Amino acid sequence: MNRKDNYDTMLLMLKGQLSGENDLIANLSNASAIINIMTDNINWAGFYLMKDGELVVGPFQGKPACNRIKLGKGVCGTAVLERKVQRVDNVHEFEGHIACDSASNSEIVVPIIKNDTVYGVLDIDSEEFSRFGELEEEYFVKFVEILNQNIDWTK
Ligand code: SME
Repeated sequence: MNRKDNYDTMLLMLKGQLSGENDLIANLSNASAIINIMTDNINWAGFYLMKDGELVVGPFQGKPACNRIKLGKGVCGTAVLERKVQRVDNVHEFEGHIACDSASNSEIVVPIIKNDTVYGVLDIDSEEFSRFGELEEEYFVKFVEILNQNIDWTK
């Protein structure tokens, strides 16, 4: 299977896993597990959620990560502030990058925005430089759209 096929399967798995369940922790835990098994060459995949004006780590797969990230800090905080996907080919060149796992070399962060409110981010790291291209952006944006359709972030 090529990457595109894997990502298509990943989205189908996500839809199946979310159907009939509305618990936030259950859904995000399984969502991060699905990314982890369907995406090659990654070393961290998970969520940071907005709480009291800053990002707090949520369900994830990978090594322990920093608990809190302030708005505008790191790749995650920048994605929230700019409300834009951040695709970083080399994290060592990203000013203010927060290194949770020193093995990480590239990163993609997709902000989770629903009805104009930012609820958090999806963050994925890789030991490979430039791991996340246009294909990955397309699919992880779709991934967040599916989450948005199925999850009430206010609960
Ligand atoms: N590198 C991120 C911090 C989170 S860890 O990658 C899990 C950042 O700069 O925001």
